[in-house]
Amino acid sequence: MFCFLILVNIVNCQNIKVDKILCENRVNPIGIDVTVPRFSWILSSRSRNVRQSAYYIQVSNNKERFESNTLWESGKVESELSVLLNYAGPKLSSNNKYYWRVKVWDQNGKPSKWSDVGLWQMGPIDISDWAAEWIQVNSENSIEHSSPIFRNEFKVLKKIESATANITSHGLYVAYINGHKIGDAYFTPGWTSYNKRLQYQTYDVTAMIQKGYNAIGAMLGSGWYSGNLVWEGHENFYGESLALLLQIKLNYTDGTSEIIGTNKNWKTTTGEVIDSEIYHGEIIDARKRKKGWYLVGYNDDNWEPVRVVNYSKKNLVATINEPIRKHEVFKPIEVITTPDGDKVLDFGQNLVGFVQVKIKGKSGDHIILKHAEVLDKNGNFYTENLRSAKQENKYILKGGEEEIFEPNFTWQGFRYVKVEGISGMINPEDFTAVALYSDMPKTGSFSTSNELINKLQHNIEWGQKGNFLDVPTDCPQRDERLGWTGDAQVFFNTAAFNMKVDNFFSKWMRDVEADQLENGSVPHVIPNVLGSNASGSAGWADVATIIPWSIYLNYGDKNILKQQYKSMEAWVDYISSQTEDYLWNKGSHFGDWLYYVPENNDNSAETDKFLIAQCFYANSVQIMIQTANLLKKQKDVGKYTVLLNKIKEAFAEKYITEDGKLTSDSQTAYVLALNFNMLPENIRELAAQRLADNIRGYNYHLTTGFLGTPYLCHVLTKFGYHDLAFTLLMQKTYPSWLYPVTMGATTIWERWDGQKPNGDFQTPSMNSFNHYAYGAIGDWMYKILGGINTSEKVNEVGYKKIILTPYINNNLLLKSDLKDQLTYVNADLNSCYGKISSHWKKSGDHIKINITIPVNTTAELHIPADTIEKVFEGKSKISDSKDIEIIGTTVSSVIVVVGSGTYNLIIKN
Ligand code: BGC
Repeated sequence: MFCFLILVNIVNCQNIKVDKILCENRVNPIGIDVTVPRFSWILSSRSRNVRQSAYYIQVSNNKERFESNTLWESGKVESELSVLLNYAGPKLSSNNKYYWRVKVWDQNGKPSKWSDVGLWQMGPIDISDWAAEWIQVNSENSIEHSSPIFRNEFKVLKKIESATANITSHGLYVAYINGHKIGDAYFTPGWTSYNKRLQYQTYDVTAMIQKGYNAIGAMLGSGWYSGNLVWEGHENFYGESLALLLQIKLNYTDGTSEIIGTNKNWKTTTGEVIDSEIYHGEIIDARKRKKGWYLVGYNDDNWEPVRVVNYSKKNLVATINEPIRKHEVFKPIEVITTPDGDKVLDFGQNLVGFVQVKIKGKSGDHIILKHAEVLDKNGNFYTENLRSAKQENKYILKGGEEEIFEPNFTWQGFRYVKVEGISGMINPEDFTAVALYSDMPKTGSFSTSNELINKLQHNIEWGQKGNFLDVPTDCPQRDERLGWTGDAQVFFNTAAFNMKVDNFFSKWMRDVEADQLENGSVPHVIPNVLGSNASGSAGWADVATIIPWSIYLNYGDKNILKQQYKSMEAWVDYISSQTEDYLWNKGSHFGDWLYYVPENNDNSAETDKFLIAQCFYANSVQIMIQTANLLKKQKDVGKYTVLLNKIKEAFAEKYITEDGKLTSDSQTAYVLALNFNMLPENIRELAAQRLADNIRGYNYHLTTGFLGTPYLCHVLTKFGYHDLAFTLLMQKTYPSWLYPVTMGATTIWERWDGQKPNGDFQTPSMNSFNHYAYGAIGDWMYKILGGINTSEKVNEVGYKKIILTPYINNNLLLKSDLKDQLTYVNADLNSCYGKISSHWKKSGDHIKINITIPVNTTAELHIPADTIEKVFEGKSKISDSKDIEIIGTTVSSVIVVVGSGTYNLIIKN
């Protein structure tokens, strides 16, 4: 009997298991509007070397009676594909819920069990699915920047099966049913190019609806729609009046349904939020709170009727990215009385969000919270770098009981908070800073034996958190907070290591396309609020090609290339229209923004803007060739290949001198020319040498700005100057990545010298302490020090095939820094296939390498050993291992291929 049980167990024991399933890159998304949803799954196994050989997807209309209600079955498909597989069943209906599951087979034909059942729900796909009408305050009654509130009640007579709310607004909204906030998102409906694409959100509100009467309430804030945007006090960018569109679809257990929506029967007034602005903050007067306004039975007799307006619904789109949610909370680490006598709380981290405060006092008392990123060199509260943004929240107390305040429609970028208005001692316990950012799953971690590098990684992550609030912004605090395209493209790869950013950027790229100008030029900021003249800068506008291609490489998503192809093409054609003899020599360009200007103001670090433009032109055309190839547009491949040659010839003629130098003898010039393959083979080594000499000439410092920096260390490593790249990373004096760290930074600064060694600040008009662009070094840290790379070959992208090349011998060229030598690096990435780990550690003269490779992927590992005989797994030489295939050796490494699983290797030197 015992043997029989063991046997049954062995037979039943799956070698492969479906751990997690995703539809449209999300877990059980509701309210999607794609007609062909895509399925992905993550597999696991206790064995090594496991691959999927086939899959079977089933989609059903009914969760309980799944099998008798199947709508579509893929059948058993022999395939290794497990990421982004298309639904291919009957047309999907608006608002319907669909259930799905998948089963897979391993390479030996052994099946998994069925996965858990997942679901997705369609949104209101057609305009006719919107029964609700746009409503707003009668304009003569609206008070500027105060938040209107709206309410209505409805009666439920039958038993509810499910209830789904779809909501959007002009301005920002929060909505309630029977007093409970719908969802936990902030700053909905998010920021898009509103006139062309306005997102709605979908919520399952079944549990909030009660039998009998129900109350719905909503409050609106000016937000991006009509609040202050851009530095000239510009407002009402999209329109003057806030408006609400909300509907709840009630499905009854008897099979009938009903839609409750905003209409003429709703009522409106103003409430406690008497002013709200993204840049300037919010004023809440609790005395004006309408107690219970969102509950059943509230007397709204003296409220105004709403105005029904005929705004278009054609621009309504589903939300595809994760909403902004609350994340980490911080308590003050210190209460400071500054030399100026201010009471200031230090939260220890430059973060983005707001401070929640608990307070008790008399009616009409108030508290004002002002926010700053830094204290000046004397320890005083410093807000000059915020320009006109007030970053100030004010709460006026109702009085009596303890009150809790937090703003609704604004956020601040801060580490320090100045408290005004309350007399007496400040109790730090009453203040909580809450970080807010788009709820993208964390995917990466990177740590080393060096604390400064770990701090740099921490700062990069916080730069990302603080600037990923529905759009990728340049900075989160001053009167800007815009979707600067250049910043976003330089940081993309780093961002994709730290967090799952595919949905976030796929959404934003749709706005890039939506706001692209008719002539193909791409605005500096997306959504475009700077007008059509602010467009077409090299390295900024190239976001149109760079990010779609990077999404494809990182996530294996080919759809993004199909979706953006026209936009990519239009951008490249626009550049061509700006050229003369294939030279891009027109237009205004930011160039190598914020590069280091030497003390004596000479121009040795400056790079000709048109030289830069030519490099980005070539890169965008190169991406077009690869994309066209992938999408089987052979005519375009031919056209762009010819064009690329001409661009490079023109570059050589104009920018390479007779003795093989570049006309701009700067680091960025050599970095870009080498990175984008602009130089003939025979002068590449020389160019790399000149780059290295240049860096030595600056005493091992970089001089690059936004465009050169992301590629600097990559180019050095690629051309054999890895030690120089590592020395640059470890450099602690200005300009360098670690200089701000040594100055106590907790985020990445906009400028290499945001604060000088003597404590002086850079010019206040441009001195953000939370700007992620220079954090782009994170990509090199993960890829080179950690060694995690995806193969870029077709069918291997998105980490289907992983190339692990950890650089373990990182020598420092600066003697003073020798103690900073790394002894270990741990890099991890949760890819679309599962977790990849690449850890290495030096102990004595041994090196340990521990790697983990997800099921259904393979990895090519470059082991830094001169002979295979020195490499062991446990006690055995890896040359004897059946799981490790040796495919080659170089002077300094042994190259092996491994399948999924964990491998703990030791190199015994
Ligand atoms: C922003 C940048 C942006 C730049 C354009 C600045 O105001 O903060 O990060 O890329 O303008 O040059």
